[in-house]
Amino acid sequence: MTSSYMNELQPPQKVLLGPGPSTVHPRVLQALSLPVMGHLDPTFFQVMDDVCEMLRMVFHTTNFMTVPISSTGTGAMETACANIIEPGDSMLVCRNGYFGIRLADIAERCGATVHVMDTPWGKAVDPQMLKDELKKRPGLKAVGVVHAETSTGVLSDMKELVDVIHESGALAIVDAVTSLGGHEVRMDDWGIDVCYSATQKCLGAPPGLAPISLSPAAMDVVAKRPSKVQSFYFNLKDLEAYWNQTRAYHHTSPINMTYALREALRMMMEEGQENRINRHARVAAALRAGAEALGLSLLAEEGHRLNPLTTLSIPEGIEDAKVRRALLNDYDIEIGGGLGEFAGKAWRVGLMGESARERNVFALLSALETILSKEGYEVAFGASLSAAQRTIATFDDE
Ligand SMILES: Cc1ncc(COP(=O)(O)O)c(C=O)c1O
Repeated sequence: MTSSYMNELQPPQKVLLGPGPSTVHPRVLQALSLPVMGHLDPTFFQVMDDVCEMLRMVFHTTNFMTVPISSTGTGAMETACANIIEPGDSMLVCRNGYFGIRLADIAERCGATVHVMDTPWGKAVDPQMLKDELKKRPGLKAVGVVHAETSTGVLSDMKELVDVIHESGALAIVDAVTSLGGHEVRMDDWGIDVCYSATQKCLGAPPGLAPISLSPAAMDVVAKRPSKVQSFYFNLKDLEAYWNQTRAYHHTSPINMTYALREALRMMMEEGQENRINRHARVAAALRAGAEALGLSLLAEEGHRLNPLTTLSIPEGIEDAKVRRALLNDYDIEIGGGLGEFAGKAWRVGLMGESARERNVFALLSALETILSKEGYEVAFGASLSAAQRTIATFDDE
């Protein structure tokens, strides 16, 4: 076998309609290629400040402690749990999909006694059910909830859930990995204590940074804990010093990813956050209409459907992997397969950030019509496209 490592790397241009990463705009790629600065260079400190300022705008918060963690979203999950949880603390995790399961696992690894409240896949976390559960469990340090479950395509009502969590006296830890930049996330208005996300979805940058924000109350818990945070890398006290206070070295910052995030956030500010959220809503509505016209059912409960990610049922007799392979090989379109309980049963279509464009909806629907028809599935050609067109033409931007 001949090795290929001496060949110049030429990744093909794909249409990224999976659960992330999403398409990265050339302006953001350009920012990635700018000259590297030192992480203690005052010019870089300005870049850091710009990023923090725009992240506060996106989280809708005045929280001082709002920074990007040097990791993907999972690192932010670890950061949230490692800093809030001390050995012996109890935490409840609401699980309505794969990422709730992961959050519970991480909390346990951080030394929490973990309780779980399970909701069937495809359904949103119910505030009343949580209220009843919390009555049975006094003294919890924190409750973790996933705002946008990427495995099921479900959006939970975060404001109501946070109110319920606070009535019990616990801190609310919210996963906004798939919602931030694609749905409204209002940290301060909703009273969220710890909220985290990731750059590769609706924020429109490559994978590699994970924004996190902590309320003063949550930072107070971190500051006053008697025990050391078990992770050096994700220890927020030191990260706060580097990002916001003394600029003391903690670890070498991913300089170029920080440039990329700055440019992606700048593009978001140019577009306007409301416009961007409406764009996600419009293209998602078009995709749903087109998919239903094609006979594919939507697996997330009505009224709680995510805009950045749609779960579609795979028709009887259709081979999941074969369709996804044809999309990738013949049309350069990537969509995701199902995770966990939805493995083999669902396609996950992401319309996130720069990928959330009408042209992508039409490209996917037209490719699916052709591929499914070749697989023997009955298709009325053009029906899904006209349903999507009609939805876009009549869509009422809020
Ligand atoms: C809701 C949610 N939480 C956490 C993660 C983990 O993020 P990452 O894969 O960037 O580590 C993901 C990734 O898809 C996610 O969708």
